[in-house]
Amino acid sequence: MPLKLKIIIGSTRPGRKGPTVAAWVAKAAAGHADFDVETIDLADLNLPLLDEPNHPAMKKYEHAHTKRWSAIADDADAFVFVTPEYDFFAPASLVNAIECLSQEWKYKPAGVVSYGGISGGLRSTQVLRGLLGNLGIVAIPQSVPIPFFPEFIGDDGVFVPNDKMKEGADLMFGELAKWGKALKPMRTTA
Ligand SMILES: Cc1cc2nc3c(=O)[nH]c(=O)nc-3n(C[C@H](O)[C@H](O)[C@H](O)COP(=O)(O)O)c2cc1C
Repeated sequence: MPLKLKIIIGSTRPGRKGPTVAAWVAKAAAGHADFDVETIDLADLNLPLLDEPNHPAMKKYEHAHTKRWSAIADDADAFVFVTPEYDFFAPASLVNAIECLSQEWKYKPAGVVSYGGISGGLRSTQVLRGLLGNLGIVAIPQSVPIPFFPEFIGDDGVFVPNDKMKEGADLMFGELAKWGKALKPMRTTA
């Protein structure tokens, strides 16, 4: 049975490029037989800043928006977070979305695809990997940074990766599949 892979678009601002990059990530993931791929746009979920009275670890949510987000994350076997870098950091929209949940992340693997200027968003990836690890996610080291990403977006608005990016993504997906399969039994024997 394929692993359910959720591609999470981390930026939510008007005019963002996150969906453009994520469209390539989803297409690349769909080329792997191991995955059943779904793209989740945090802008659609429209999560407010954490507004639940209980600690997320209790999984006692009061609001429909949190319950919806929780069900999406619960359904996943693996994640790829597609993220920009804001001020050398991960975007608040993504940090907030991750911190709204807790148990839903545990014993699941995640990769990160980042984009930016010269850094390719790597600093965002590193802080995210720390946060994800704190929540029990296996944040694999095979991330995909995309430096100077606007150069890879054509006039038609489509992101076209170079060979290095494709290789990096393939490596990440291969590792995600291994971890996804290995971690599944840990969740059923909890
Ligand atoms: C608030 C803000 C801070 C930014 N900080 C960085 C940064 O630290 N490093 C970087 O490479 N690009 C930075 N940028 C430029 C982003 O790489 C670029 O705007 C990108 O399109 C942001 O992703 P998004 O369009 O999905 O929001 C920043 C952009 C914004 C809006």
